[in-house]
Amino acid sequence: MVEQSPIRLRSCRPDDLDDVMHVNEVCLPENYPRSFFAEHVMNYPKAFIVAEVDGKIVGYVMTRIEKGFSAFGFKWVTKAHIISLAVLPQYRKQGIGSALMRKALEGAKEYGATESYLEVRVTNVEAINLYKRLSYEVKGVNADYYSDGEDAYVMAARI
Ligand SMILES: CC(C)(COP(=O)(O)OP(=O)(O)OC[C@H]1O[C@@H](n2cnc3c(N)ncnc32)[C@H](O)[C@@H]1OP(=O)(O)O)[C@@H](O)C(=O)NCCC(=O)NCCS
Repeated sequence: MVEQSPIRLRSCRPDDLDDVMHVNEVCLPENYPRSFFAEHVMNYPKAFIVAEVDGKIVGYVMTRIEKGFSAFGFKWVTKAHIISLAVLPQYRKQGIGSALMRKALEGAKEYGATESYLEVRVTNVEAINLYKRLSYEVKGVNADYYSDGEDAYVMAARI
């Protein structure tokens, strides 16, 4: 039996951004300028988590902390907005995506977040299932959300 290398989760650092942007470009059509990633590392490092295997970054989740109305009642709250989550294809289905999300949400709580939300393509069954397992529920649909015209589910969870 081949022994699996351990997965290490830690906060993203500015010098990780080349690797994070590589994972983003391999995995998602939604790509962003370096300054966008850098802003999130600078402001919310506890909720911007990378997964490393043998010293290589194989996944990340980037989060923004926002204030807004709760998805669960009429009150003003602090929220963890999941901006981007990705795991390199050859490292999927090992629990890395879920572990990244859990750690980012723990970090977000340290910034005062009490709930989280995200947008996900309505056809992205893998990601939707992952979010449901983490207690996210569909709260609405943003029509034409993506540049190719696909709709997004808005999903939210208490954390
Ligand atoms: C969505 C994504 C991040 C999930 O990453 P992941 O590391 O595969 O996530 P997990 O391993 O935690 O969970 C995925 C599945 O693997 C299963 N799994 C986890 N550990 C496992 C193991 N040891 N053996 C077999 N299956 C396992 C999970 O139960 C889950 O199954 P399900 O889809 O049937 O519920 C990944 O598919 C990805 O990068 N997709 C492209 C980018 C993307 O869509 N991002 C989200 C945008 S909103």
